Amino acid sequence: MKKKKIVILGGRGDGELIAWACRDVEGIEGYGWLNDHENKGTQIACLPVLGKISKGEINNLISDPEVLFITALQKVKQAQERLKKIKGMEIPPERYFSLIHPSAYVAPNVKVGYDTFIGFHVCIMANSIIGNHCSFRSSAHVGHDWVIKDGCFVGPNSSLLGRGVLGEGVHIGPNVSIRERVKIGEYAIVGMGSVVTKDVPAHTIAIGSPARIKE
Ligand SMILES: CC(C)(COP(=O)(O)OP(=O)(O)OC[C@H]1O[C@@H](n2cnc3c(N)ncnc32)[C@H](O)[C@@H]1OP(=O)(O)O)[C@@H](O)C(=O)NCCC(=O)NCCS
Repeated sequence: MKKKKIVILGGRGDGELIAWACRDVEGIEGYGWLNDHENKGTQIACLPVLGKISKGEINNLISDPEVLFITALQKVKQAQERLKKIKGMEIPPERYFSLIHPSAYVAPNVKVGYDTFIGFHVCIMANSIIGNHCSFRSSAHVGHDWVIKDGCFVGPNSSLLGRGVLGEGVHIGPNVSIRERVKIGEYAIVGMGSVVTKDVPAHTIAIGSPARIKE
C-alpha cells in the first residue's frame, strides 16, 4: 500500500516534533513543508520546504491523492488569528491528518478530530472528546471525560484531572495542573507551571499557584 505523504503547514517548534514523529507512524511519510519564512528547498528536520502557505500551493498538493496536511502554526496569544488562517485555507477535513505518536496512550473510546497532534508519551483517558487543530505536547495527561474544543494547545507535562472543558483556542502552558471539573473559557491562556483550581473566564490569562487572573 502506498504511504500517505504528510505536508506540514508551519515551521519549527511543534512542526519539527511532527516531522520527526512521522518516522514512527506506519503508513505515512513526511513529505515536506509549506512555510512562509524559509526559502523553497530549505531542509527542516530533513524535509524540504515546498513553498509558501498559499491556496495555490495547497491546491497543487491536493491534486496528489496521497497528500494529507497537518498544521503547526502554534503561537501563544495568537490562537484566534491561527484558527482564522486555518479556516481561510479551506482544506477539506478529509485531507487533514491527525498524528498520534505510537508512544501515546489514547483510550479506545476517545474521539479525536482532524489536524490534531498527540505527541510523545501523551495519555488521554476514556470518554474524552478532542477537537480539530489541537496539539498535545510530550507527556501531557488528559483525564477522563474531558471536552477539548478546536484549536487548543496543551503544553508538555501538563495534567488535566477529570471532567473539565477547554473552550476553543485555549492555551495551557507547560507543567500546568488543572483540578477536576474546571472549565477554561475560549481563548484563555494558562501560564507555565500554574495550578488551576477554579474556572477561568474566556479571553483571560491565568497564572500562578493557585492561578489568578492577570490584570
Ligand atoms: C502566561 C504567559 C504567556 C504570560 O506572559 P506575559 O503576558 O508576557 O506576562 P509577563 O511575562 O509580562 O509577566 C507578568 C508578570 O507575571 C509573572 N508571571 C508570568 N508568567 C508567570 C507564571 N507562569 N507563573 C507565575 N508568574 C508569572 C511575571 O513574573 C510578571 O511578574 P511581575 O509583574 O511581578 O514582574 C507566560 O507567562 C507563559 O506562560 N509563557 C509560556 C508560553 C508557552 O506556553 N509556550 C509554549 C511552551 S511549550
